[in-house]
Amino acid sequence: MQIVHTTSDLRAALAPARRTAFVPTMGNLHEGHLALLRLARQHADVAVASVFVNRLQFLPHEDFDRYPRTLQADSAALEGAGCDIVFAPDEQELYPEPQRFKVQPPAELADILEGEFRPGFFTGVGTVVLKLLNCVQPQVAVFGKKDYQQLMVIRQMVRQFALPVEIVAGETQRARDGLALSSRNAYLSPAQREEAVQLSRQLRAIAAGLQAGERDFPQMEARGAESLRQRGWEVDYLAIRRSDDLQQPGTGDRRLVVLAAARLGTTRLIDNLEVALP
Ligand code: PAJ
Repeated sequence: MQIVHTTSDLRAALAPARRTAFVPTMGNLHEGHLALLRLARQHADVAVASVFVNRLQFLPHEDFDRYPRTLQADSAALEGAGCDIVFAPDEQELYPEPQRFKVQPPAELADILEGEFRPGFFTGVGTVVLKLLNCVQPQVAVFGKKDYQQLMVIRQMVRQFALPVEIVAGETQRARDGLALSSRNAYLSPAQREEAVQLSRQLRAIAAGLQAGERDFPQMEARGAESLRQRGWEVDYLAIRRSDDLQQPGTGDRRLVVLAAARLGTTRLIDNLEVALP
């Protein structure tokens, strides 16, 4: 496995590749990232991962500075998962001048849910992903369903800009108790870690309600959010949406997704669950 820090070294390393699959990450890797890497391996002869904490997608008060930077451990984990090339540019390499051209995702997709609570987030994500895709020029790029709205923004960006890349989605990887794996789980105290499982439990409870025929979406959302609040969570949103466009469902919609973002102390967790009704 090669570790490269510049786009020109990346190009040289990629020269012999016939078909490249790419997994962009911000590092501090866990089994969720590695599952994407293994999925990438199945789609190409060369698997590339990037490790870059993208300042553009953090708000001033967010955790950009304390986001864990663990390139050595990440590289070892990636090598174990069959990665061929790690692209780990520094900020100077990826943003040598202020990034004034940016991707502007459509408001109806990017200003709701995550975008409502993290204004500009999807502009930052879209911009860095477009740039990374241009650096790596892969045939396939792999993203996790854990960040459901992000996956949707990227799929639309790729479609509307006719980017020559196929987007593949990986399932959300979870801890034994159901908590979605996340780099931010490392911020949780032992007591918070124990409580954290309640987020996925709420999603499962709502999914079960939907499967059982409940259709009062606002009431189900309010009940779920309230029970998290009672346990000490601060809930940004808990929403039942259509899975194809994240808009409010009607009672006849069959393909749904339940999405939530909530904070335990200062740690913000997100999760979602797809629900296909018969
Ligand atoms: P990061 O949070 O490091 O996630 C990198 C990729 O791993 C994303 O596609 C994310 O959805 C996926 N992922 C994270 N946790 C997962 C889990 N438990 N199961 C499956 N996949 C999981 O998402 C980003 O970085 C950034 O926004 C990025 C796309 C790299 C742009 O900066």
